[in-house]
Amino acid sequence: MQPIAILSALVEEQKGLIGLLHNRSQVCHANRVFWLGDLYGRSVVLALSKIGKVAAATTACALIERFGVQCMVFTGVAGGLDAGVQVGDVVVGQSFVQHDLDASPLFPQFEVPLYGKTLFDADKTLTSALMKASQDALADTQLRCAHPAAKVHLGLIASGDRFISGAGESDALRKALFLAGYAALAVEMEGAAVAQTCYDHGVPFAVVRTISDRADDFAYVDFPAFVEEVASKYALAILEKFIKMI
Ligand code: ADE
Repeated sequence: MQPIAILSALVEEQKGLIGLLHNRSQVCHANRVFWLGDLYGRSVVLALSKIGKVAAATTACALIERFGVQCMVFTGVAGGLDAGVQVGDVVVGQSFVQHDLDASPLFPQFEVPLYGKTLFDADKTLTSALMKASQDALADTQLRCAHPAAKVHLGLIASGDRFISGAGESDALRKALFLAGYAALAVEMEGAAVAQTCYDHGVPFAVVRTISDRADDFAYVDFPAFVEEVASKYALAILEKFIKMI
């Protein structure tokens, strides 16, 4: 049976998962450690993408070519871009755009040259399962205690090689995307790269992001505190429900 890939951006999100693996083994490849084993009765391979689009695409490629994964799910954190997306919320990616890709005037801003596409979509079945898993996880009041009003959203995620940490910068990004016809819920640094790689290889994928900050002047304080205290608990709870569901 081909394994399911679980890709995490941060060590904090992955470490709880490694401890849950049965028949665990590791393979070092492409400057990364890949953990193989069984998680809730399913064959999985865990990998750390590291940070940024190139690192994420390289990792996704290794998972596909070396480990022959059947599908891929990415867990991580993101900055809230839409006014309704707050710290502690969960965003499941429906589609992905690279907000720092601009080959204009040769191609429209944000379009991926030679693909004739700007948006890359997540797999619908995996995405519905991630939505349900996230809603069920947030229904657990203990998990939600630090953020009692936390919501689950589904929509566009914008990825780029920048940590957005200023209100002016996130305003400008929101406006630029909006002018081009896109309303992004959240910003992060890997999702669209995984999306493009999976598109090239015909591998179904889905992404879930917990909102660690508002991509504003406080992002650099909120991000590490959230990752340490909350992100790993969210990732574990959502993934347990997701794996048992698919
Ligand atoms: N991931 C989490 N917060 C982010 C931010 N503000 N910018 C980019 N990636 C992020």
